[in-house]
Amino acid sequence: MRVVVTNNYQEMSREAARIVARQILAKEDSVLGLPTGDTPTGMYEELVQLDNRRLIDFSKVITFNLDEYYGLPLDHPGSYHRYMREKLFDHVNIQEGSIHIPDGVAKDIEEECRRYEEEIYRYGGIDLQILGIGPNGHIGFNEPGSDWEMTTRLVKLSEETRRRESRYFRDPTEVPTQGITMGIKTIMKARKILLLASGKEKAKATTKALKGPVTKKVPASILQLHPMVTVVLDKEAGSLF
Ligand code: GLP
Repeated sequence: MRVVVTNNYQEMSREAARIVARQILAKEDSVLGLPTGDTPTGMYEELVQLDNRRLIDFSKVITFNLDEYYGLPLDHPGSYHRYMREKLFDHVNIQEGSIHIPDGVAKDIEEECRRYEEEIYRYGGIDLQILGIGPNGHIGFNEPGSDWEMTTRLVKLSEETRRRESRYFRDPTEVPTQGITMGIKTIMKARKILLLASGKEKAKATTKALKGPVTKKVPASILQLHPMVTVVLDKEAGSLF
């Protein structure tokens, strides 16, 4: 595991964008696994700039998002569909058909999860999976206690996660109680993983995940067993290292 501690959020974002850019330059039809949240917004801004300066090209890139809320209209301001459009897809030349995000309002959710998982392998699997980490150590919506063997599925969100995510909603009661997420098994099958964390709030979770025992109580700790992980932190998230 390679750990890079940068001076601040902007440096973390630039370093992350460079890693993604190198992946796209090495393989133009790379399959990327993408996260949402506050952490990767700077990375997306950097990627948009690299694309607009024609240093990278998204036209053959395939993307699969990590997760989405269950039951939230796709154009709801809190949805990850909306987030991805606003932060990345509306600003780069990716093809519409190359974008994959779990459909949280699909009629048959079990079928949607199965289809999503199959679609990833139809494209040959994920080349680079980018991840954030929750303050409780979650990755995607795989909350503490999640089984390692799980693939894409419907999950219940912890109250802690719902409370935290309420910043994206007008009213805390609007935050869905469930989400669709790639499972830990799906994530671990990616060829390479890039984990990002920024801010004091993430220092404990990051240290537990990367230096503590591998335990279901800290879902991100499984990454210690992945052969190709790069972790990029800002100084605050890396302060307990
Ligand atoms: C959410 C998302 C995760 C994300 C995490 C951290 O729960 N489902 O995929 O990594 O929160 O979010 P943030 O980057 O805003 O701290």
